[in-house]
Amino acid sequence: MKVLVTGGAGFIASHIVDKLIEQEFEVICVDNLSSGKKENVNPKAVLYEEDITSTQLRDIFDVEKPDYVIHQAAQIDVQRSITDPNHDAYINIIGTINLLENCKNFGVKKLVYASSAAVYGNPNYDVVDELHPIAPLSPYGISKYVPEFYIKTYNHAFDLNYTILRYSNVYGIRQVVKGEGGVIAIFVDKLLKNEPLVVYGDGSQTRDFINVSDIAEANVQALHYGDNHVFNVSRNEKININELIGILSKIKGEPISPIYKPFRAGDILHSCLSNEKALSLLNWVPKVSLEEGLLKTINYYQKKEELIPLSY
Ligand SMILES: NC(=O)c1ccc[n+]([C@@H]2O[C@H](COP(=O)([O-])OP(=O)(O)OC[C@H]3O[C@@H](n4cnc5c(N)ncnc54)[C@H](O)[C@@H]3O)[C@@H](O)[C@H]2O)c1
Repeated sequence: MKVLVTGGAGFIASHIVDKLIEQEFEVICVDNLSSGKKENVNPKAVLYEEDITSTQLRDIFDVEKPDYVIHQAAQIDVQRSITDPNHDAYINIIGTINLLENCKNFGVKKLVYASSAAVYGNPNYDVVDELHPIAPLSPYGISKYVPEFYIKTYNHAFDLNYTILRYSNVYGIRQVVKGEGGVIAIFVDKLLKNEPLVVYGDGSQTRDFINVSDIAEANVQALHYGDNHVFNVSRNEKININELIGILSKIKGEPISPIYKPFRAGDILHSCLSNEKALSLLNWVPKVSLEEGLLKTINYYQKKEELIPLSY
């Protein structure tokens, strides 16, 4: 079975590609390398350096004829979506339509789409399930949601199966120091450079962090399960930024005093997603705790062989 993965040189998709290769899928990546890196791409996968908005995408589908498409490529920077909403919408909405047209024309069996907790905006109730109202706070939140409608329409009109996965805040190895949910990557980077951590707001804002390997696993499971459903993919664990800094302090073995700056427009105050539906229908369960995932991430960037122990 052949899977075309968009954004395959990026943070999340490169982990998906690794898991697919492990499971002996044939993998094709389409990535314009705007933020992704060639060295992230598994050597057993084929990389096409192409933009998802390009008409050349048709030629790739024509040559490769993928069975499945896992769509991860996107403009992921919330702040850039505010300063340049045209670009954000062009990549995230028009790019997805271009992909859908090719899925339709070349008989793809199923599309798995990376959506985001950003579509919900600030929660009306504590643990956000898939039925929570949609109220994005940024152009990015809008441009991740609009493709969900297109995907459902292509299912109704052309029988293209889909699974939509709305991720909470993803972190882990290969994450770059910008973009959505990048707070852990930014903090780890600053810690390793011995620079101060900056917190926007008072640090009481909460996030539901999930390790990238659990997200990759959910995508692979979505090839087999959850047809024509929308799922949150999260740990369903609320942690505030000050608590996160507390865990990092324990790993570092000394207190960390961040610099507090004013809250930024477009940022969500609280985010915790229910993962009940994914647990029951995707045959998936998150396996990596935040402490374990942070240790693995820090060790990776320190290029250590062994996990450093927590000091508590
Ligand atoms: N990181 C998170 O916490 C998070 C949370 C929710 C949803 N998501 C979604 O997950 C997906 C992957 O995000 P990521 O964090 O791995 O980001 P990333 O920037 O590391 O990966 C995106 C990849 O897409 C490529 N790309 C961007 N625009 C492209 C284009 N026009 N044509 C071809 N390739 C293009 C980039 O070069 C990059 O390799 C995105 O769809 C994002 O919206 C991420």
